[in-house]
Amino acid sequence: MAVALIVAAGRGERLGSGRPKALVPLCGRPMLEWSVTALQAVPAVTQIVVALPADDLEAAPAGTLAVPGGLQRSHSVRNALTACGGHDVVVVHDAARPLATPQLFEQALLELDRHPDAAAVIAAAPVADTIKEVGGDGATVARTLDRSRLWAVQTPQVFRRAALERALTQSSDDDLARATDDAWLVERAGGIVRILGSDPGNMKITTPEDLRVAELLLAELRT
Ligand code: CTP
Ligand code: MG
Repeated sequence: MAVALIVAAGRGERLGSGRPKALVPLCGRPMLEWSVTALQAVPAVTQIVVALPADDLEAAPAGTLAVPGGLQRSHSVRNALTACGGHDVVVVHDAARPLATPQLFEQALLELDRHPDAAAVIAAAPVADTIKEVGGDGATVARTLDRSRLWAVQTPQVFRRAALERALTQSSDDDLARATDDAWLVERAGGIVRILGSDPGNMKITTPEDLRVAELLLAELRT
């Protein structure tokens, strides 16, 4: 049995719609509801906790537990984890990825089950672009990375509770602020993190352009 933590407490500054991104309408429903509906279709997930801005706790969808988010994303994950107990496995998901399917959550849970040595399984898509690293001047190429080994990391990220709890409680507030995903905190502590190949269609909504693309994809999926 697993608990799912949805982080939805960001301000959505790059989307610029004047309200928290997770509450912006997407195909007629607040963005957050798409992830909640997908998770409610996963039998192994028995509880859903949503981290929201402190002023918007009443926006939590029916059947979920609302907690106030923190200053940075990983603080929101920590607050949500602290609010629930009793599950050995924790699914962490960004409300900003409303196209994640019940099948993707199920596959991630299954993969963790299949690998008892792993502390986490994270959804990721192979990188399509060639990635170059620049030097200290921010403009001159220092090296070209081997694309065949690069993955663009997404959520869901599924953790053994003990490993996530340790990583979140033993990291400093500064490290939590630097963490763009929770798996990094687990990797750093020596935990084994496995990749689950996922579809680039599980996109993250950051800009108004992303929102338009997600509207088109969702409309297509529903026809
Ligand atoms: N998030 C959160 N608490 C924070 C910051 C982010 O719960 N303090 C969540 C967001 O709600 C989102 C996910 O983490 O679901 C990924 O963050 P991001 O895409 O950066 O969303 P925002 O922080 O809302 O957007 P922006 O950075 O443009 O303000
Ligand atoms: Mg942000």
